[in-house]
Amino acid sequence: ASNGTSGKEKTLAIIKPDGLFGNHTDKIKNAVSESGFTICEEKIVQLDEESVMSFYAEHSSKSFFGSLVKYMTSGPVLLMILEKENAVADWRALIGPTDARKAKITHPHSIRALCGQNSEKNCVHGSDSPQSAQREISFFFEEKSSGSVVQKHDEL
Ligand code: PPS
Repeated sequence: ASNGTSGKEKTLAIIKPDGLFGNHTDKIKNAVSESGFTICEEKIVQLDEESVMSFYAEHSSKSFFGSLVKYMTSGPVLLMILEKENAVADWRALIGPTDARKAKITHPHSIRALCGQNSEKNCVHGSDSPQSAQREISFFFEEKSSGSVVQKHDEL
């Protein structure tokens, strides 16, 4: 869905702890700009358990939920609002399938294939629909309780 004026759309991207820790940030940001996305806002945040549980609430009944929460709080993440036409679908295409092991076979040039390891340590997140994107962007950029900011936009 477009915003009605410019034809552009926003999505939420997260570089997860393995992405930051593994020094994949520059590579990922190059892919972001080469693919025509603009980074509207970004910040590095140490998430707390409560905010991760709320962010991933739809997965709370899954067997991996506890592990996912532990992983997503294991170190800082880089949150980015990305903008371009068709941003939600295009970012999902660029990052590839959830399981990085499968991505290495089926989508070898995708970000998860290049930077991730498995379904948990898969390096990046992307909103799965325009509705999710709106919710996720306001969750991290308009509410105050989503963890402590390590670096703000103008410091990155
Ligand atoms: S599902 O079951 O199809 O809804 O799951 P999926 O959409 O593929 O994944 C949802 C998010 O959960 C993470 N995930 C996992 N974490 C830890 N362990 C396991 N086994 C696991 N499987 C999936 C996955 O990375 C997704 O995170 P996001 O940030 O949404 O990409």
